[in-house]
Amino acid sequence: MELWIATTNRGKLLEFEMILEPLIKEGKLKLKTLGDLDTYFPPEETGATFLDNARIKARSLKAVRPGAWIVAEDSGLAVEGMNGLPGVHSARYAGPKASDFENRAKLLKIMGLKALANRNASFICQMVVFDSDGQEHLFDGELKGTIAKAEAGKTGFGYDSVFIPEGETKTLAELGLAFKNKVSHRARAVEKLLELLRQKP
Ligand code: IMP
Repeated sequence: MELWIATTNRGKLLEFEMILEPLIKEGKLKLKTLGDLDTYFPPEETGATFLDNARIKARSLKAVRPGAWIVAEDSGLAVEGMNGLPGVHSARYAGPKASDFENRAKLLKIMGLKALANRNASFICQMVVFDSDGQEHLFDGELKGTIAKAEAGKTGFGYDSVFIPEGETKTLAELGLAFKNKVSHRARAVEKLLELLRQKP
């Protein structure tokens, strides 16, 4: 079975690969991404919620791969003391073409300037899956934690190096991918997807 993932983000793909590895190793699953399409024009992520944006991405890929298994997820960081920002704007927080580094720098700067005492935050993942019959399945996941005062660590992507998961003292980027894939928002959603895929012949 082929599963088409609506992403070009290598960090996300690596996480999908690690969690879906049992099925991949058994030869039952092959992952494909937007990079495997000859031409593809990604839709604008104009939704007001993670679910809206995940649906926009899933439907857009389904339009060019009808009948295939499709998965799209939208995810981001919601900081309590900033009314849930950067939220759906996480990827473009510091501007339309901002790098992960620029996004993190902006977040730390604003939180520093506001002298926010409440540094609680959550990573949120909303996933939309279309099976080969076109039926929609929704999965989600959340990882609670706090925002560090400075970056630390090298693994992962996005805001991993400024996010300290609940109960830990190090950032996700210091704790490493094996740790992240046991607890992360995306891991929780992908685990549910794995269960669904296992039920299918
Ligand atoms: P998306 O690709 O439109 O869903 O944007 C997701 C953005 O949210 C990423 O570019 C990151 O900035 C942030 N993000 C989502 N998941 C993670 C994660 O697991 N670690 C760190 N940052 C993340």
